[in-house]
Order: sequence, then C-alpha cells, then structure tokens
Amino acid sequence: MSHEIAVIPGDGIGQEVTPAALEVLSALPVEFTVREGRAGDHVAEETGEPLPAETYELAASTDATLFGAAGERAADVILPLREAVGSFVNVRPARAYPGVDALRPETDLVFLRENTEGVYAGHESRLTDDVSTLTRVVTGPACRQLAEFACEYVADGDGFTIAHKANVMRETDGRFLETVREVADERGVTADDVLMDAFATQVCLDPTAFDVVVCPNLAGDVLSDLAAGLVGGLGMLPSANVGAERGLFEPVHGSAPDIAGEGVANPVAAILSAAMLVEFLGHEDAGRRVRAAVEDVLADGPRTPDLGGDASTAAVTDAVVDRL
Ligand code: NAI
Ligand code: MG
Repeated sequence: MSHEIAVIPGDGIGQEVTPAALEVLSALPVEFTVREGRAGDHVAEETGEPLPAETYELAASTDATLFGAAGERAADVILPLREAVGSFVNVRPARAYPGVDALRPETDLVFLRENTEGVYAGHESRLTDDVSTLTRVVTGPACRQLAEFACEYVADGDGFTIAHKANVMRETDGRFLETVREVADERGVTADDVLMDAFATQVCLDPTAFDVVVCPNLAGDVLSDLAAGLVGGLGMLPSANVGAERGLFEPVHGSAPDIAGEGVANPVAAILSAAMLVEFLGHEDAGRRVRAAVEDVLADGPRTPDLGGDASTAAVTDAVVDRL
C-alpha cells in the first residue's frame, strides 16, 4: 500500500535536513507518494502569509507530514500544522547514541508533551501600555487524551513520571496532575510525579532516574531542549506530533540561521523523525532499520561539526543510506 506524505522543508536548515530525511525514506522498502508544501518566513516575504491555506490542507489530508523547521514566524506555521493533523501529543525521545560525545551518555528518555493548550493556546493580550497578560488553558479532555496515550505508550513498561508545577499553578497544573493520575489509576499504570524545576536539576544529575516524562506544553518544549543538551545537542532530537489519524514529524530544532546554507547541519534529528513517521504508518521494522543505520554511522562517523566531526549533511546522509 502506498502512503501519501506531505513534505514541508520550511526555512533555513529545514531546506537541508528535510531532503536528507526524504532520501533515507526513499531507501526503504515502503511506498510513498510525496507532495511538497511551502511554508515559513521565505513564503511570508513573498505572500505576507507564512502558512498558505493549500499547505495547511495538504497536512490535513495526507497520511503523514514530514516538516523541517520555520524561522521567525515558526509559531504561525507549526502550531496550525499540528492542529491540521489533529495532534494532541508531541513525542520527543532524547537518547544518547554510542560514539556521540554527550554530556550524559546514559540518557534514554522520552517526553510526552501536551500539544494543544497550556500557555500555547494563543490567548495573550495587552491590557494597557504597561500590562500584558496570558491565559493558560488546561482542559480535562486534553489531559485525559494525553494520559491515555501515555498509558498505551508504556503498555508493558515501568510507568511514567508527570512533570508539573501544581504547587504554584494549583488550578491549571493541579487539573493536569490530577487528571493524568486518575487515568493512570484507571489503567493500572504506575505514575509518579516531580516538580518540573526539580526535574530540570535531577535529569542533569541522573537522567537514568527517568524513562517516560509526561508534561504540559511549555514544560515539554523547554525540558526536551534541556535533554537535547545532555545527548549531544539539538541536531539529535526527533519528534512526532501524533493525532488520531495523522501525524506530523519534525526535528525539535529550529531553522538554525547561524549555520543555514553551509551544508553542515546535522541531519540525524530529521532522519530519526522520518523513522518515527514510518513507524506511525505501521512499518515498525523500517523504523528500526533507520535507527540502527543512524546508530552505526554515529558510532563510526562521519559526523557533522556539532558532534565534533567535519562531515557535511550530505556525507552523513549518504552514510546512513549506505548502511540501509
Ligand atoms: P535552533 O534550534 O534553530 O538553533 C539553536 C542552536 O542549535 C544553533 O546554534 C544551531 O546552529 C544549533 N542547531 C540546531 N539544529 C542543528 C542541527 N540540525 N545541526 C547542527 N546544529 C544545529 O534555535 P534558535 O536559534 O533559537 O532559533 C532559530 C530560528 O528557528 C528562530 O527563528 C526560531 O523562531 C525558529 N524555531 C523554529 C522551530 C520550529 O520550526 N519548530 C523550533 C525552534 C525555533
Ligand atoms: Mg522548542
């Protein structure tokens, strides 16, 4: 069966790492029809609008979307695209690969980030010239859906940890914590919890203390970038925005204007995102093969400069394809 996937490279290094990930996808025994979509600052410059309606429609109608990165207008691109695929959870694995000079080589954890609300719900206002406010939205159904996903995710595992700040945000994070715990109880899944600030310290000191971490939207965004720092940098972290029927797969990093156009961006985050895409489409074996190929290449080289190597994006991508 052939899958229809949308490919949206976006801005900056998105234009470099997305073709690399697509090359890896093309080397797999999985059939795809690729439909390319445009989005990002460069589109806004031409048209005034960073996310054309036809790109939104593309993501909303294809089986899965591979996204690169957007620049300054990222929020106007990625938030609607996550909505287009009906995503309620952002899955962000942070794993240190052998051979990569990581701060914490023992790191192997996964963030399950709430993906629709919290402080990213878009309710900001300027009350006066001096006062701005933000309304944080936390709903039972969104917490419940995230918790149900988390319970499935750890089906035969050790349970999960809820990272929150319910001691201060008693109503919003209070609801988050209570609802996620309730679902875990119903499902017989072990769920412990940790204050997110304490988590930030603990995960640096001993990342093996955590396995699957369930967190609100902003916390998941920040804490997963922190974990990227433990495993070799942002070039290493893939993500999956999972919805009931569709998904959008993207590296955690942004458009990296400081290195864009030089051909040295680390393609691993995008390639691992493509592995999550094929797994989402039911090709678990293909996903495993991509991860194994990446693991071999990271162990033996070539590696890009962010990992201490001197290889180009293309050289690393070719090496992964060769291994496949
Ligand atoms: P960034 O993730 O683009 O870059 C942070 C640092 O990590 C830079 O030094 C960059 O060179 C490095 N880096 C990131 N990915 C890399 C890779 N694959 N290989 C090697 N080095 C890599 O974040 P920054 O600099 O805060 O934001 C740059 C732009 O990206 C901004 O305009 C921001 O709005 C946008 N952004 C977009 C996101 C998205 O599209 N999902 C997410 C985060 C930021
Ligand atoms: Mg981020």
